[in-house]
Amino acid sequence: MNLANRNLVTIDDLSNGEIEALFSLTDEMANFPNEQSGLCQGKIMASLFFEPSTRTRLSFEAAMLRLGGRIISAIDVGATSLAKGESIADMARVIGSYADIIVIRHPWEGAARVVADYAGVPVINAGDGSHEHPTQTLCDLYTIRKKRQTIKGLRIALWGDLKHGRTVHSLIYALARFGATILFSNSPGLEMPEHVLRKLATEYAYKLIDVKTLDAEVKRGLFPLHAMYVTPVSPHQLAMLPDIPEISIQIKGNIETLKKHGIDALLHYNVSENELELKLKRAEIDTLYMMRLQKERQTSTEEVQELKRNYPVVDKKLLEGKVFKKTLVMHPLPRVDELAHDVDADPRSMYFKQAAYGMPIRMALLAFLLGAKKIIIPEKQDSFVRKIDYPVYKRDSGVKCPNIKCVSNQETEVRYIKPEFKIVSREPLTLRCIYCDHELHPQYIASSDWHEGKLESKKYHSADSHFARKIKPENLIIFASEKGAQSQGFKPSIYARQ
Ligand code: CP
Repeated sequence: MNLANRNLVTIDDLSNGEIEALFSLTDEMANFPNEQSGLCQGKIMASLFFEPSTRTRLSFEAAMLRLGGRIISAIDVGATSLAKGESIADMARVIGSYADIIVIRHPWEGAARVVADYAGVPVINAGDGSHEHPTQTLCDLYTIRKKRQTIKGLRIALWGDLKHGRTVHSLIYALARFGATILFSNSPGLEMPEHVLRKLATEYAYKLIDVKTLDAEVKRGLFPLHAMYVTPVSPHQLAMLPDIPEISIQIKGNIETLKKHGIDALLHYNVSENELELKLKRAEIDTLYMMRLQKERQTSTEEVQELKRNYPVVDKKLLEGKVFKKTLVMHPLPRVDELAHDVDADPRSMYFKQAAYGMPIRMALLAFLLGAKKIIIPEKQDSFVRKIDYPVYKRDSGVKCPNIKCVSNQETEVRYIKPEFKIVSREPLTLRCIYCDHELHPQYIASSDWHEGKLESKKYHSADSHFARKIKPENLIIFASEKGAQSQGFKPSIYARQ
């Protein structure tokens, strides 16, 4: 695998081996930042930031300058032709003919994917709405690795606004791939989105354990959490995680002991049943990753005030707790009220280090994507996330992504973007938007195989009916509503009401 000319839209665009190689080059960039000015001479980076940024924009720009390259930039939609109604695809085509690489932050979820589809040069997602922020994840992983040498087996707690925090969405996938135990506690009303949880279960083979189901003794040892993820859940899934080569299932004997803790099918790598119990009882948290309330994603100031009232705070007093004795305190920044200034001088505080690592990490990333540095990782020794070849649905039958922030729903983009989904489940029918990952559960479907050319048999059925499940993916016609089916000339079948 070679990183040159690739895009980084989601953290899953990089394999684990590539992330490791990137970190090795980051070490070199951090140690000798002033000796890299020949690497990207003559190259131009377009820096497009249509949402506020301090760290990501300025560290990318500093990185490119230190590599000897140059920058063109736009930091205000109003100062670009997007304000005149130009599509981001047209903008991408044009800027792709001026620059060698594009870094984009945009409020629409999936915007970076569209820019990557049209630019013709490598594109880096610097944050697309609440969706993903993969280069922040590189900073986070690198920081943890520097302090703990490994990610595998660490207990990493994610805290705060897990609904809108794009950094935690990218981070949670990466933590899963590197084998961490993930514990999370959202602020009330700011839960981890369903589609993220599903992806963890299906693509990453993680099992969700609701802390409420654990027995009192185990619960006492846990930081106040709602859920935890543990790896992986069944032997066939273990085989799909080749980057954890020493996996062995050693849970033998009395599975009832596990069931006592509400765990039916928990298998953890390289731990015996006793060790597993100890792990669950172990009190320490290796890393506490705090998120700010993303108030720019809320619709009203009243909503913000309500969410603020219950928002957790990390301060000196909290960190006196036994569970936090050796905890790395992390935050992608900027912070507001959720992370007190009285912990800044604490040696456990990592957030300014995370921000500082941004520059050498982005130097390494730019050098790789621009082909100035090469890595070749034999495919056999590497691993991406588990790839599932879900059937794709892209018929024009009126089904739209339910996420109003999705790029596929924007007035300037609907002229050329056709909604496209992965069919991630048939029971219940679940479509995942290819741009923003949000899911929908359409209720009515038909088959092109049975009705084509025969108007009298244009029948729609309930998506839950046993009959509907027999329709091959390539023949599926999916409707946004019953009305939508009828407006397209379909009539209800006897299976429309099941
Ligand atoms: N962490 C992060 O993305 O910071 P900025 O918004 O300042 O770029």
